[in-house]
Amino acid sequence: MAERGLPDDRRKRAYWVAEANGDIGQTEARFDVWARHYDADVAGLFGWQPPLEAAAAAERYLPKDARILDAGSGTGLVGEALAARGYRNLVAADLSQAMLDVARSKGVYREFCKVDLTEPLPLEDRIFDGLLSIGTSAWMTGEPYAEFARIVRPDGVIICAIGDERYREGRFEAVIQDLADRGVLEVVEVGPAFRTFPRSDLPDEVRVRIFRVLK
Ligand SMILES: C[S@@+](CC[C@H](N)C(=O)[O-])C[C@H]1O[C@@H](n2cnc3c(N)ncnc32)[C@H](O)[C@@H]1O
Repeated sequence: MAERGLPDDRRKRAYWVAEANGDIGQTEARFDVWARHYDADVAGLFGWQPPLEAAAAAERYLPKDARILDAGSGTGLVGEALAARGYRNLVAADLSQAMLDVARSKGVYREFCKVDLTEPLPLEDRIFDGLLSIGTSAWMTGEPYAEFARIVRPDGVIICAIGDERYREGRFEAVIQDLADRGVLEVVEVGPAFRTFPRSDLPDEVRVRIFRVLK
């Protein structure tokens, strides 16, 4: 073990951080420790695929001048994938200052916001055209999606990448169904399952899911 508990085995680091689920202080502390290794571990070593798939999906719904919140931006891999496709009006939000510091160094975001996404957000209604929340579902339930829908304008989209089991058991399905029943949003796309870490033998799969905000 090195760096305040960070496992030496890079395969175990994502799971070590995920074990903090439910404890916001531990989650923040563990991401703070992981921050400077995160890109090399998840993107470099394992080929972290969700940011690339989500950015490709964003291009089908959002014009290049869209103002987009990257909710749970981490080190900015989603911002980099969006910037590679021409998006420039990006805002990063994350719990971990160290992750945000790495994101800032990428030079792809206009604004930064240190927030706990599981709390009411200190953001005005309807100020974003789109919101992406990628790689965050292990640390939260579906509950923040009501707030996500509040800060995205009508006809804007929310894009996430979540595996089927987590979608059901993490209260995403129930929360999204409730929001749909209340006419707040609609499900517009559930993509094919793909491997989260295609360069590893880790079996995890997720799907890009896209919700359109209605009011
Ligand atoms: C696995 S990383 C994903 C980062 C980035 N979206 C990506 O795809 O590489 C999860 C991120 O969610 C953030 N996070 C976890 N719980 C959070 C919360 N309650 N509020 C805000 N951010 C949170 C962590 O700090 C971390 O940066």
